[in-house]
Amino acid sequence: MSAGAAPTAFDIVALRTARAGKRFGSFCHYFETTDSTNTAAQQLGREGAPEGAVVVADAQTQGRGRLGRSWSSPPFRNLYLSILLRPSIALAQAPQIALVVGAATTEAIREWIPRATLKWPNDVLIDGRKVSGTLTELEAAGDAIAFVVAGIGVNLNIGDDEFPAELRDKAVGLSTLTGTEIDRVSFADALLGRLESLYDMFLTAGFSTLRPRWEALSGLRGRRLEIDDGRQRYTGQALGLGDDGTLRLRLDDGREQTIVAGDVTVVDGYATGR
Ligand code: BTN
Repeated sequence: MSAGAAPTAFDIVALRTARAGKRFGSFCHYFETTDSTNTAAQQLGREGAPEGAVVVADAQTQGRGRLGRSWSSPPFRNLYLSILLRPSIALAQAPQIALVVGAATTEAIREWIPRATLKWPNDVLIDGRKVSGTLTELEAAGDAIAFVVAGIGVNLNIGDDEFPAELRDKAVGLSTLTGTEIDRVSFADALLGRLESLYDMFLTAGFSTLRPRWEALSGLRGRRLEIDDGRQRYTGQALGLGDDGTLRLRLDDGREQTIVAGDVTVVDGYATGR
């Protein structure tokens, strides 16, 4: 956004129109400000809203990130979107949804910047700076899934100087790289379209079918990684993903380690995805 320009609210009517008749996004809620679109979508889930219901906000006061972090959510610049999913899968497969969402988001971002890459489990990076992250949150009913909320934050029109100081060299807005403002509705439409199609593939054929596509988007295979799973740090070479979406690492002592959750740092430079 150019300096001094009046902020423009997200055009939720245009998104509803673009998604009319589609499963994901034809039912959209909009907030100018909310605490977290994930919280709003969880509420919809408890009220019985259908799969594919979407919540978009122009600002979040308590945007949540992975691993207990917060998500910086300044008004009118970016996309803060949560979608309600009701997958008929086993609870143990639920973490794979985060990978599906990450792949869909990367593919959408590549429509603007083809060199975007996916970092396990679902961060999208460009030139090593983060453009997008996903937080999936699950509500169980006994040992079944009641619903999953996938919340996606994408830095679209935020300028470098608008990030908190500690994020300035770690995060970037897509428009900084394209040199032009990103139309947030077009982006959300592209994202929901990609997600609908990858999610359907996931439900019908399983994550193992999507694994090669995920790996091609990531460029992580063969990279040297440092992983912090909250209890322990691992260093080694990425072997790729297991069919269940876990990350396989060849440790420096030759053993293979399977990582189920954690924070990944690529230590030999970032993947280019090409
Ligand atoms: C991450 O840590 O990388 C995940 C960030 C997820 C942020 C999005 S913004 C929309 C949705 N609402 C939230 O509170 N979080 C997610």
